[in-house]
Amino acid sequence: MVSVLFVCLGNICRSPLAEAAFRAEAERLGLEVEVDSAGTGDWHLGHAPDKRAQAVALRNGMDISAYRARQVERIDFMRFDHIIALDESNVTNLHAMRPEDASAAISLLLDHVPGREGEAVADPYYGDDAGFDVTWADVVAGAQGLVERLRR
Ligand code: 4NP
Repeated sequence: MVSVLFVCLGNICRSPLAEAAFRAEAERLGLEVEVDSAGTGDWHLGHAPDKRAQAVALRNGMDISAYRARQVERIDFMRFDHIIALDESNVTNLHAMRPEDASAAISLLLDHVPGREGEAVADPYYGDDAGFDVTWADVVAGAQGLVERLRR
């Protein structure tokens, strides 16, 4: 079974949505996965996802209200096969905290979408509701590309 950890800054907007989209896509295609999400920051530890993130997930058939924010830990670099960052600053932070004997492969979510390599999933936290629909579309594209790669 393949294990994947999605990482953003707060773990209340983008990475919980990526987790949900990936769970749905993996289930749709029958790929067995272990999935979680975490943040590099510690402002929202133990909090449920942002209400706007919960709402966009629910509109798309996923209930993420029971997800709780946590921070990335060193053990995550051993426990997960893939650590998938939502933007480049998350990649930089992950490399800075990555233990020498880490086994997890670190990559950017949209690197798994042909033609969108290097693109960030923009942080919707300080924007309006419409931004969360853009985030959802981005994480679905990333989840589809990632599941396709992992099935090969
Ligand atoms: P996320 O969004 O990284 O997509 O969960 C953010 C949520 C909260 C904060 C920053 C980003 N914050 O600074 O509190």
